[in-house]
Amino acid sequence: MTLKALVGRITKGDCLEMMQNIPDNSIHLAVTSPPYNVGKEYSDHNDRMDYDEYLKWLNKVWIETKRVLVHGGRFALNIAPTGIADFTPIHHDLANQLRAIGLIFRTEILWYKQTIYKRTAWGSWRSPRNPHILPSWEYVFIFSKDSWTLDGSKDEIDIQGKEFQDISDGHWYIPPETRRGGHPAPFPEELIYRLIKFYTFKRNIVLDMFGGTGTVAVVADRTNRKFIHIDISEEYCQVAEDRLRRGDKGRPRRGKALSKITH
Ligand SMILES: C[S@@+](CC[C@H](N)C(=O)[O-])C[C@H]1O[C@@H](n2cnc3c(N)ncnc32)[C@H](O)[C@@H]1O
Repeated sequence: MTLKALVGRITKGDCLEMMQNIPDNSIHLAVTSPPYNVGKEYSDHNDRMDYDEYLKWLNKVWIETKRVLVHGGRFALNIAPTGIADFTPIHHDLANQLRAIGLIFRTEILWYKQTIYKRTAWGSWRSPRNPHILPSWEYVFIFSKDSWTLDGSKDEIDIQGKEFQDISDGHWYIPPETRRGGHPAPFPEELIYRLIKFYTFKRNIVLDMFGGTGTVAVVADRTNRKFIHIDISEEYCQVAEDRLRRGDKGRPRRGKALSKITH
């Protein structure tokens, strides 16, 4: 399979196998949210792996990701700590892996997604004995390969001043998607819209190797970027295909995001 065969297509397959078909230095932005290993009901993936095995597996994916990024290419990783009583700092572990393979950790975005006012994580209710914190946010970590700067033509810049200013405030309030086409953990389109507009030029190639229901593909397509979508599940790839076929060009669908951004 060639790069041409992957670009602009929904590809069903294992990410490590499929990424072998992507040449070195060819992707401008990779955006992904891997399975968090928290026992979610994915159609074709065991989301309860041994934690060390899980980390080893992801490390191979990060090495491939670094290989395919262009000089100055970016990797946006959406991740959150998992568990409340059994807190696992998976976000630290993955960030350390990515730094260890030599990517530049350039910043983090805090995606605040609390939607239920005055929810609590209980623990020892009303007692300092063992109270728990409710993780009402996730992170998007941004890495660069080799350089902070990404080359591109001025003619391919399509972000306006107000939008640029709003996105550069790293605290993003975007309500989560709940379920889409049976998928337990889809991205909200707004999250991807901001990453793509801020970090890429028009016609750049954007990769999601755990593409799920195709949010990255759909938003990349709508914003005049090229995309590569890989997911192991036939079912989710079908959802992605259907969304892409329906997808309109121009403004992203905004959902209920309480966003400060105006398009
Ligand atoms: C957190 S979800 C991504 C959801 C996606 N961001 C969306 O908007 O729908 C992780 C995805 O990884 C996929 N997956 C798990 N193991 C995989 C593998 N080895 N290769 C490719 N995809 C895999 C699952 O099928 C699942 O759709």
